[in-house]
Amino acid sequence: MNESIFDTPVSIQIAQLRQTLNAYAHRYYVQDDPSVPDAEYDRLFAQLQALENSHLEFLTPDSPTQRVGGKAIDQFSSVRHALPMLSIRTETDTSAAGAENFDARIRRELGLMPIDAAVVYVAEPKFDGLAINLRYEQGVLVQATTRGDGETGEDVTHNIRTIGQIPLRMCEAGQGRAVPPIPHVLEVRGEIYMRRDDFEALNERQRQKIAAGAKGERIFVNPRNAAAGAVRQLDPTLTAQRPLSFFAYGLGEVSPSAEGGPAFETHFDLLQTLKQWGFPVSALVNRACGATELVAYYNAIGQQRDGLGFDIDGVVYKVDSLAWQRQLGFVTREPRWAVAHKFPAEEQLTTVLAIDVQVGRTGKLTPVAKLAPVFVGGVTVTNATLHNEDEARRKDVRVGDTVVVRRAGDVIPEVVRVVMPVEPSPHLERGVVFGMPHVCPVCASVAVREQGEADYRCTGGLFCSAQRKQAILHFAQRRAVEVEGLGDKLVDQLVDDGLIQTLPDLYRLDQTALANLDRMADKSALNMLEALQKSKQTTLPRFLFGLGIRHVGEATAKELARHFGHLDAIMAATEEQLQKVADIGPIVAKSLRTFFDQPHNCEVVAQLRACGITWSEGEPLLQALTPLSGKTFVLTGTLPTLDREEAKALIESAGGKVSSSVSKKTSFVVAGTEAGSKLDKALSLGVPVIDEATLKAMV
Ligand code: IVH
Repeated sequence: MNESIFDTPVSIQIAQLRQTLNAYAHRYYVQDDPSVPDAEYDRLFAQLQALENSHLEFLTPDSPTQRVGGKAIDQFSSVRHALPMLSIRTETDTSAAGAENFDARIRRELGLMPIDAAVVYVAEPKFDGLAINLRYEQGVLVQATTRGDGETGEDVTHNIRTIGQIPLRMCEAGQGRAVPPIPHVLEVRGEIYMRRDDFEALNERQRQKIAAGAKGERIFVNPRNAAAGAVRQLDPTLTAQRPLSFFAYGLGEVSPSAEGGPAFETHFDLLQTLKQWGFPVSALVNRACGATELVAYYNAIGQQRDGLGFDIDGVVYKVDSLAWQRQLGFVTREPRWAVAHKFPAEEQLTTVLAIDVQVGRTGKLTPVAKLAPVFVGGVTVTNATLHNEDEARRKDVRVGDTVVVRRAGDVIPEVVRVVMPVEPSPHLERGVVFGMPHVCPVCASVAVREQGEADYRCTGGLFCSAQRKQAILHFAQRRAVEVEGLGDKLVDQLVDDGLIQTLPDLYRLDQTALANLDRMADKSALNMLEALQKSKQTTLPRFLFGLGIRHVGEATAKELARHFGHLDAIMAATEEQLQKVADIGPIVAKSLRTFFDQPHNCEVVAQLRACGITWSEGEPLLQALTPLSGKTFVLTGTLPTLDREEAKALIESAGGKVSSSVSKKTSFVVAGTEAGSKLDKALSLGVPVIDEATLKAMV
């Protein structure tokens, strides 16, 4: 803002502030690329609020100040849609045929011949949220309605206004931007959804509220339910606390601008224009030519599905040409020009046959539900984790229950919740409440739950055959020293028959012992000996990772090897020295020290080396002067001695990075006095907050 603004009439000042704030908000919410620090937005926002408060005659509903603070209502009013909100025909065949049948049908219905060119489609993700109709008059949001039965929906305008990604006013041409004129009436249709990280953070807050004794709070089952619940709140301040997002995918009623138009020819162009008007359109939307490209799109999106950040349950194909769409028309409530091609469902119902407790490599006891086999997420599932005692209790899963199981991508299948019968029968008794055993189910050693930890652990260590087996499998896996062909069946036998007590015993096996095992012939015994021989030549990171030290994953093992060069140096390092390694904090350092302070662990290392395990050792990293490397900091408020630039220089000199906005990736927020919204954000995301003194100590 320049000086001259103070000479400008209030109405113009207000208009300019709104325009600037809308532009900033668009960058922040829609493009996910903030152009100014939060503080600058807050400053202008406060200015606008002050001007509006002293000039109520200029207050309009499309002002950025009017997103929150609406009053709660008693009930929703129903609204008849100007144009019905249709549904899409669903293709549940999850093979290529799903796309091919659609293309064949479209070609037939358009009367195309085999020699005619491929039909152009637009392929989009099928977002798993809820449909919304946003009505803009002269570019201003006047009403938002849910789909309802397709003819009549509910007026949820007060809630939708709180969603930052939804423009209260459409972006117009200006400042060199050529944007099609804004129609007199424009209804934008799209999906309200909740991002997975927002969903997790929301549930974390809910858990804390419940733990603090709050009444009437609940954990949400999935992002879609959380989003739907948020949109149907009577009190918009509650909606505002639930982070919602939006993607536009189509139009409802449109009546042209005074200049006429815009006259779209294709669905794709229409989406591009919506983007220019300020609506979020998914970057995954693409044109696809003919069945082959539809299939390629289906497969590509299926691959990316787990990493998208939000849930989708399939893809949608739409004929691109709007003239062809009109020609194809509708059957009952579904357009003939679109189809939804579903992915394999990620949730299914099944019954719990038993609840077992498994012992992991580090002794962790995990309750696992044994299930009647069910096809979910593309594979048959018979086991699903219940995570730990608290989770199992919270979900109150019992033998005989009908449960929802979920398997998303590569993650371990989990029991989401129990489905209670609609009419509980008094004769049908449920199983007993699950309780964690207080002794290890494998070795009967005491199982303890440390204060502040969620897990019970078997205290048997390598005395426990379950832990021994897991330790061997961990050491032998591909990412560690890799003993080809050493799988769980073989390890079970080796341990159960007493052939292996500790890791080095692996290298003392001989052919006779191996050939005597079940399903092992001379040939396979020889192969195993060869694989063991081959595994002896390894690398330091693989060996370190293979030892299975708590908190030492592959990346940490690599950093340790890079930093120290030699195993002996790592084994001798103090906790302080270990913490100089990138990404190693006090917990990992302590765990390493504890491991190498146990004489039996050092003995295992010595014996493995004596058995012939070798690697080439490198040079230690000389400049261990980057204690903050890999860490990202956000500064907020006024620090006692350093100014912004000095703090930034200090962090960067130690190898850290400084960023202007807080996200889950932020390592630390350094807060001083009068810290603002960044501090709130850090607290809500669980990002650690430190003060200047701590920062200095870290450096
Ligand atoms: S187009 C005439 N596109 O799927 C077609 N719908 O049965 C109107 N949905 O609940 C809808 N992603 O909210 C369309 N890319 C997408 C979509 C999508 C999700 C939802 C929609 C509705 C259902 C349609």
